[in-house]
Amino acid sequence: MMDNVLIFDTTLRDGEQSPGISLNAGEKLEIARQLARLGVDIIEAGFPITSLGDFEAVKAISKQVKGPVIAALARAVDKDIDRAWEAIQAAERPRIHTFINTSPVQMKYQLKKEPDEVLEMAVAAVRKAKSLCADVEFSAMDATRSEPAFLYRIFGAAIAAGATTINVPDTVGFMLPEEYAALIKDLRANVAGIENIVLSTHNHNDLGLAVATSIAGVEAGVRQIECAVNGLGERAGNTSLEECVMIIDTRQDILGLTTNINTEEIIRTSRLVSRLTGYMVQANKAVVGANAFAHESGIHQDGVLKERTTFEILDPTKVGLAKSQIVLGKTSGRHGLRERLEELGYELSDSELNGAFERFKALADKKHEISDDDLEAIVAEEAREVAAVYSLEYLKTASASDEQPAATVRLKKNNSIIEQQATGDGQVNAACRAIAAAVGLEPKLLSYVVQAITGGLDAQGDVMIKLDINGRQVLGRGVSTDIIEASARAYLNAINKYLSKA
Ligand code: KIV
Ligand code: ZN
Repeated sequence: MMDNVLIFDTTLRDGEQSPGISLNAGEKLEIARQLARLGVDIIEAGFPITSLGDFEAVKAISKQVKGPVIAALARAVDKDIDRAWEAIQAAERPRIHTFINTSPVQMKYQLKKEPDEVLEMAVAAVRKAKSLCADVEFSAMDATRSEPAFLYRIFGAAIAAGATTINVPDTVGFMLPEEYAALIKDLRANVAGIENIVLSTHNHNDLGLAVATSIAGVEAGVRQIECAVNGLGERAGNTSLEECVMIIDTRQDILGLTTNINTEEIIRTSRLVSRLTGYMVQANKAVVGANAFAHESGIHQDGVLKERTTFEILDPTKVGLAKSQIVLGKTSGRHGLRERLEELGYELSDSELNGAFERFKALADKKHEISDDDLEAIVAEEAREVAAVYSLEYLKTASASDEQPAATVRLKKNNSIIEQQATGDGQVNAACRAIAAAVGLEPKLLSYVVQAITGGLDAQGDVMIKLDINGRQVLGRGVSTDIIEASARAYLNAINKYLSKA
């Protein structure tokens, strides 16, 4: 029988630590539900002590998402562990994940503690967590730059205190894959009790090696991979979930391993996370990038047309691509829309469905065929609006070669309407300036990216904007067949995110 590798998803915790990402509780719940459909074994839902918003989101996920283990992160201190437990205790299968720095540099400069004190804190934290919850994970932060002898001691003590999973993070993405494999083998040979727990990887991508290092760990005996959808995470990101899963799936001949992931949900999960976080996926990203299955050169196209496997090692349908794409049109009704959205995994309330239906009709007036990608964009846009402080009620822009571009916007906040006008270098600039004046903020634009959601001249434009508002970076996303409207929506979405966490 093949061995199974557990997939521990940390999109909502380490992934959310990516600069500019700021998910609200509803968005986190939506991602968690999709992660459950994807079949991840563990969802790390957040770090409850860090904010009330995170605490509430972890609590909501614990109550509402069934199937996976729900984990919450806690430093090795009582108040973090109590807060984590408060957030996850309603889960079907809760896990407390506690961690402490173990490398000389981090113990000295960040913790300002001696190794023996750190070891005592780790043991006390695991004991405390174990008194609340049967499933306890212990992580040695910066394990790959720690003294091996210290790791043997601290891991052995954590296991004796009740840890059921031991995580060996390459926190700063420093190790080469073969070095990491050697470390895992070394730990397996020297840590007391290690044969009774699950060993785990958690590797960052600073040198672009996170996936390779995680797979090397698995080859050396690790049976849990911590990873994030689209490789999101601190700095250069975390191990990419979709890449690890497809490596394990595609190279069973060498690895002899399986996961519980329903691979056909991969693309949808990647797109949902991209839309809600505002992080676009690079076109040449393995597995989920727009070009991952696109063949440009004539020789490759010829080969694939004759026999797909000539130049494709992954079957696109296996990751959920190229299933039914053109689905609905102008004459489709509310019932058809609801059914298709349910097939896509969206459970909308009546009022959400009404909002989505209005958007669908407006889009169907402009666009002949509405694809699944369009529908997913509609649902995401509706969710953004529902959670918004300000909504865009009206936008008018005008420009001519001999006139300065101008814009008028009307925003709704609770039941009042605010109207503003502004001019700018272009229509997008004028619209954003009018919005800034209406909300009374002075955001600085850091980046602006436009992509088409589907092919064709009538494609919806998907705009991502990064703003600096009073020193905080926020990402906004907006979708429309009109690029100027999509830009205004993205700009307002970023402002709403700022205001909802201000
Ligand atoms: O990178 C890291 O070490 C972490 C730990 C909290 C597991 O994110
Ligand atoms: Zn991390």
